[in-house]
Amino acid sequence: MTRAPAALLRSALFVPAAHARALEKSASLAVDALIFDLEDSAAEGEKGEARERLRGHLASRGRQTAGGPLRVVRINPLDTPAGTEDLLMACAVRADAILLPKVEGPEALEQADIALQHCDAPPTLALWAMVETPMGVLKAGAIAGAALSRPLGALVVGPNDLVSAAGLLLSPGRPELMPWIGPILVAGHAHRVPVLDGVYNDFADLDGFSAECSAGRRLGFCGKTLIHPSQIGPADAAFGPTPDEIAAAEAIVAAFAEPAHRGRGVIRLDGRMVERLHLLQAEALLARVAAIRTRKGPTR
Ligand code: COA
Ligand code: MG
Repeated sequence: MTRAPAALLRSALFVPAAHARALEKSASLAVDALIFDLEDSAAEGEKGEARERLRGHLASRGRQTAGGPLRVVRINPLDTPAGTEDLLMACAVRADAILLPKVEGPEALEQADIALQHCDAPPTLALWAMVETPMGVLKAGAIAGAALSRPLGALVVGPNDLVSAAGLLLSPGRPELMPWIGPILVAGHAHRVPVLDGVYNDFADLDGFSAECSAGRRLGFCGKTLIHPSQIGPADAAFGPTPDEIAAAEAIVAAFAEPAHRGRGVIRLDGRMVERLHLLQAEALLARVAAIRTRKGPTR
């Protein structure tokens, strides 16, 4: 039995819908997901205009193309005047997912799910949740396990809001953030929801960014949210399998396929013990490689 391949979410770029040039530029980028933002990056007075600009942009481009970026819309909270308008727009332009900000419990997701049912959104329209407040971290398990009629596509760590809410003073390697990140990762993995790491603000520092991506991958994040196009390449590299990992996975699959090893639970390979769970991991990794190979560049 092989596992269903996990969604490819190495790189997820926030695109401020308030900025016409950034929106235009986003159509030329090869990235796993575009998160069109109507929340933090749009000032109060810009929100209506940003929503209409995004409506025009997404409506004129149709659905996600095979191998093209996932199209996610980060809306304003549903208890603010802009939130419902944003949700209706995202539904009307047939976005692939809606990202809810500042989720503090399963209720926010369940409320959005019901609102989407009322506007006849397809059941494939996923919800994503930003976990970026102390209460959100405390309730991360319940958020990841929310009872929804549609997929919960990702949990997204929001470090800027967390740092501000908890008065954190970050040092290099962000050890101060780990107690906040940990519960979100555990919740995501327990409920099989991918967890995306938060943004790295200093977009001119690509070495620091790459180091944070590598650390994020080692922690179990599926990918990273980004703020600038220059961060896409390093994120894809850090969260994609390395040539050594691909070779090792191919060797494991080949070894278990040998007639002498068929049906065996555990085998010896290059002096090491390899179990069936390693075969499943290897197959999942190779499925990811296949998905990466079909990932397209700009399609529109
Ligand atoms: N998405 C798409 N395009 C972007 C982009 C983004 N997030 N950030 C920059 N670009 C584009 C610029 O529009 C510019 O395009 P052009 O060549 O057509 O003029 C090009 O990339 C180079 O940008 P640059 O001049 O280096 O940056 P900037 O000063 O225009 O923008 C920021 C810097 C930080 C304001 C911008 O990157 C940004 O708004 N990022 C996202 C912020 C956000 O969404 N925050 C909320 C989530 S944390
Ligand atoms: Mg935020």
